[in-house]
Amino acid sequence: MDSTLAQTELNDSLKAKNDLFYNDVIAGLRSTPKRLNSKYFYDANGDKLFQELMNSPEYYPTDCELEIFSEKTAELGEAIIADGDAFDLIELGAGDATKSTYLLKYLLEKKADFTYLPIDISENVISYLNISLPVTLPGIKITGLNGEYFDMLTKAASISSKRKVVLFLGSNIGNMPVNDAIEFCRELRKHLSEGDMALIGMDLKKDPKIVLAAYNDKGGITKRFNLNLLERINRELNSNFDISKFDHYPTYDPESGACKSYLISLQDQQVTINGKETISFLKDEYIYMEISQKFTIMQTDQIAINAGFVPVGQFFDTKKWFIDAIWMAA
Ligand code: AVI
Repeated sequence: MDSTLAQTELNDSLKAKNDLFYNDVIAGLRSTPKRLNSKYFYDANGDKLFQELMNSPEYYPTDCELEIFSEKTAELGEAIIADGDAFDLIELGAGDATKSTYLLKYLLEKKADFTYLPIDISENVISYLNISLPVTLPGIKITGLNGEYFDMLTKAASISSKRKVVLFLGSNIGNMPVNDAIEFCRELRKHLSEGDMALIGMDLKKDPKIVLAAYNDKGGITKRFNLNLLERINRELNSNFDISKFDHYPTYDPESGACKSYLISLQDQQVTINGKETISFLKDEYIYMEISQKFTIMQTDQIAINAGFVPVGQFFDTKKWFIDAIWMAA
């Protein structure tokens, strides 16, 4: 392709992304109650803040899942190898693949016949993995796929007809309300064939104080993580949020397991988005930012069955705060 044409295509796709972001922000801030989609947390700054958050003493989910992957590698690996036939190991939202690297290393040592297909919306993540993993894990077969999960799952199916094993870690599934999570798993099932597997990481219900503290860390990283979305809107959509006029308010309801984050307007104020749309906030009005759902073990089984899977394995950290569940497509 000629380089001017490539540049035009790149500009068009950036513009389409920016338009989508703008439309979502306006729709969210014009709705009652106001809301923003937490998928927009992750610009370069948001990624950095999330990394910082994962190292904070209060944010336990990453440590718990890392413990499962580092301590129960062989059990996870054997469950995935199953009868030993060749398979594609697909990871949704692979990030830096820290946890899955334990599994990949084990599978390589066992000479399992597999290809790793990390899927991520970030092109940087995919090129990083394509370059770095063959160095840290010599012999790995890797095909990184940059794009939306389900589009890339379709692509993965067109690349090979091997058995699929899909990883969806980090309790990312908890960033959807439960009904949406079931819908997501049904969609995932539609992209798989009978006998394929999913390995899903889910944060479990526990002492409510521990959950709430993870989303209200003393260092204020979660607060900055939430406020960063307002700053991102300022940066990318030429807007004028004054972040000192918003406060972070997390809640956890032990009954439903819903941990939710809000930003509260500290005064009556107006914000202009893109120099043209004015949004008014009343003092104490909230913007609903994020849900981080916590599950019971029974609920994890119910979601699997509801979506057309059979739960076939459960792996926990020593505190039983987190589960990595293995489901088989029925
Ligand atoms: C990415 N996701 C699973 C994190 C969570 O725990 O819901 C995002 C996060 N939000 C605030 N802290 C961490």
